[in-house]
Amino acid sequence: MESHPIPYYVKLRRELEYLFGEHVQVGQDRISVGRRTYPVVDDVIVLTEFDPNERDKNRVIESFGREWAAFSDCKAEHIGEFENYFDLVNLESLHGKKCADFGCGMGRWSQILLERVEVDFLVVVDLSEAIDVARRNLRKHDNVIFLKADLEALSFRPDVIDFSFCLGVLHHIPGGIDKAARNIAACSKQHLCYLYYDLDNRGLAFRTIFRLANGLRCLLSSIERETARTILSHLLTIFVYYPFILLASLTRLIAGSGVGMPLEYYIGYGYGRVRQDAYDRFFTPVEHRFDRRRITEIFQNLYAEVMISKEPPYWHFLCRK
Ligand SMILES: C[S@@+](CC[C@H](N)C(=O)[O-])C[C@H]1O[C@@H](n2cnc3c(N)ncnc32)[C@H](O)[C@@H]1O
Repeated sequence: MESHPIPYYVKLRRELEYLFGEHVQVGQDRISVGRRTYPVVDDVIVLTEFDPNERDKNRVIESFGREWAAFSDCKAEHIGEFENYFDLVNLESLHGKKCADFGCGMGRWSQILLERVEVDFLVVVDLSEAIDVARRNLRKHDNVIFLKADLEALSFRPDVIDFSFCLGVLHHIPGGIDKAARNIAACSKQHLCYLYYDLDNRGLAFRTIFRLANGLRCLLSSIERETARTILSHLLTIFVYYPFILLASLTRLIAGSGVGMPLEYYIGYGYGRVRQDAYDRFFTPVEHRFDRRRITEIFQNLYAEVMISKEPPYWHFLCRK
């Protein structure tokens, strides 16, 4: 008689029921939640199917699938970046809590979080093939639920997640952030978010350089061939990122910190980490930007409290109900 391995979600069935508020049945390669059945591929539950009508969203998702396949490993720099993003969060308070990483990519922040905190369970969600990379990267943990799902169609039970984070995701949604932000708020008691800033704390020169770079992004993001992207990402790193990083380092040496030079965030970062962001910045087809006022406006409608960090990356902020 043929013997099957025990499906990954057998031991997470209760957690899934808690999340969806419906009876869950776990099969070999599918899961039933109430009356709906979803395929499970390599431990990833596929909640959202590909919709050919969502052209712009598909371009974004396809680009990220490729990006995270090319940059799949957690780098040394990510540890410091994690500290920057989570500066407003009391990590101690997350022990034993139900957490979620919305738009997890390859799962770098989840990896670091799980090394520091013993959460009850962690749900990681991404619509792109990056979710498969996250599955591989988080293989040593057995309390992670992997969902291939669209944040614009997310429907968990209200307030089922104690703490969620969504870092660098919502500003890439072609139709705007409202729907996804509402879905996340509906299920999260506390939420950490990072949205690209609108350069509202920068001067004219900085804004002009950014506009030029953004024009280049609009051109380059239509390039599909991966070899061309790889070559260009090297060239951008060497001839765009590094000259600015060098200038920022020299300025810091002479004038001290606080001058606010472009790309000074990357001072001391290794080549691979810088190239990853060069790829991200120049090949992602959709990006929206937000100033502090707009962030406060949107998120105060969803949460009782919104705290925007004064520190980079701009703007990351913590919301509480
Ligand atoms: C810039 S990456 C950030 C990934 C991760 N948060 C990080 O910082 O490493 C944005 C991620 O959001 C995902 N994403 C974009 N739109 C999404 C949507 N509508 N639903 C789910 N995931 C989405 C992309 O697939 C991509 O992996």
